Amino acid sequence: MSKLRAAARSRRGLQPGAGGARRAAARGGEDASPRKGMLPPVSAQQSAYHLFSHPAETEAFRKNLLTWYDKCKRDLPWRKLAASESDTNRRAYAVWVSEIMLQQTQVATVIDYYNRWMQKWPTLQALAKASLEEVNELWAGLGYYSRGKRLQEAAQKVVSELAGQMPGTAEELQKLLPGVGRYTAGAIASISYGQATGVVDGNVIRVLCRVRCIGADASSLAVTDRLWYLANALVDPARPGDFNQAMMELGATVCTPRAPLCTACPVKQHCRARCRVENELQSASKRLLGEAAPRCPQVPDVEECAAGAAGNCSLCLPATEPWDSSLGVANFPRRAAKKQPRAERTATCVLQRRGPRGESEYLIVQRPGSGLLAGLWEFPSLPSGPGLKEKQQREALLGHVQAWTGEAVARGCLQRVGEVVHIFSHIHQTYVVYSLLLGGDEKTALGRRDEALARPASRWVTQAEFQKSAVSTAMKKVWKACERQSCEGRGPAKGSKRKRGADPSHAGQPKGAADSGLPKRQLSLDVFVRAPARE
Ligand code: ADE
Repeated sequence: MSKLRAAARSRRGLQPGAGGARRAAARGGEDASPRKGMLPPVSAQQSAYHLFSHPAETEAFRKNLLTWYDKCKRDLPWRKLAASESDTNRRAYAVWVSEIMLQQTQVATVIDYYNRWMQKWPTLQALAKASLEEVNELWAGLGYYSRGKRLQEAAQKVVSELAGQMPGTAEELQKLLPGVGRYTAGAIASISYGQATGVVDGNVIRVLCRVRCIGADASSLAVTDRLWYLANALVDPARPGDFNQAMMELGATVCTPRAPLCTACPVKQHCRARCRVENELQSASKRLLGEAAPRCPQVPDVEECAAGAAGNCSLCLPATEPWDSSLGVANFPRRAAKKQPRAERTATCVLQRRGPRGESEYLIVQRPGSGLLAGLWEFPSLPSGPGLKEKQQREALLGHVQAWTGEAVARGCLQRVGEVVHIFSHIHQTYVVYSLLLGGDEKTALGRRDEALARPASRWVTQAEFQKSAVSTAMKKVWKACERQSCEGRGPAKGSKRKRGADPSHAGQPKGAADSGLPKRQLSLDVFVRAPARE
């Protein structure tokens, strides 16, 4: 018996060699079992079409998928850890971190963050001791920041309330750990404990909808229930973690949203969508020739959904969404039209001063502890109401900045940089970027300013510190916009043939950038925020 399966059994109080009935009992919880009672009633014909009803086909599907996975799987750090870590708690933690990071984020982006995270906090206990600031700093740029915060809070809970022991089944993981839903619980339990429970994420939805021609809105309750049912029925009890990862891998690399590689698909012979595409093509060509169309030779006993043909199947492509032959298998899955993100505008000010050692410093302030980008740092920013005129926006932003600096700022000092757009999942955010150099009597003014800014939620940072702080990607874009403009605004130095964007560290190097301690090739905002002419 494999290490994983033995661990799963011992965690669930099962003896090695206990039979299928016990395994079924272990899967009998709300989220781990094929929840037959919760499925909408379907006709026999419909079930056969949208299900795997033949055990032999289920077996063949598992075998084909896992053979492909063994040969083609990507070498990913969390897979290595899950395979090599003998301590169950550590293994579960390693998988948990990866699954949280992988939610809404591409594998390629996650790898670096994951490695840094596991190096810094290799165990639950280490993570439980981390501060939220440290977590946000490491998470900066990964997006959906509440994920890191919740992971850390949940680790604290495991340490303080569960004696450092990870819950041992998918049901308990979901019940006891904040931020762990049905998917994450299933992934942790199958990959690290070997529990035979399925998972449904975006990739699995696509694969299942295609192999079983499920064309109804994939976010509807009827479809969601059917997909979990299918995932739980299909998962290979001998290798549940590998099976689940293989389904996700297939969706990510072969059964992709727009240009699936059907010819390379290891389960193409089980794919009813492919069968339907072939039938449509053959029908079209036969129609042209005036002949009767032969049917797809695969799954000859269930060629279509009888209820669907009668127009009353809750899983079929609805009549309002006719088959689009240009899409092929990508007719599946179908999602209800996405709600458009709401448009918001925010005025933001890159405020610069000369620091005590002559280096440039920038003011960043901390966002509230809840809501969008909770606890992250940003340049002082102010949402603009709809229809606010430029002049009013400047006035409002000046007032806001003055509240942070504790001193009057001349209106004319505020320079408009431009606009930066950042799309959050539900908000189309436009930052109207301004910059402001605090000038005047440096010595006396600095003293006063430091006093005014001795509030915990604001700090002055150098460029290097800004880059390392817990700031969002949107703020890094704001920084870049200023940097770009500083470069463009400077123009070629006299007698130089330097192009736009070229190394500013030689001719035209602003006073201050040289002594800022920054690498020479890095741009500074100094020139850009040079005290402007009064308005
Ligand atoms: N997406 C989410 N979890 C994954 C995993 N373990 N492997 C590949 N893609 C994933």
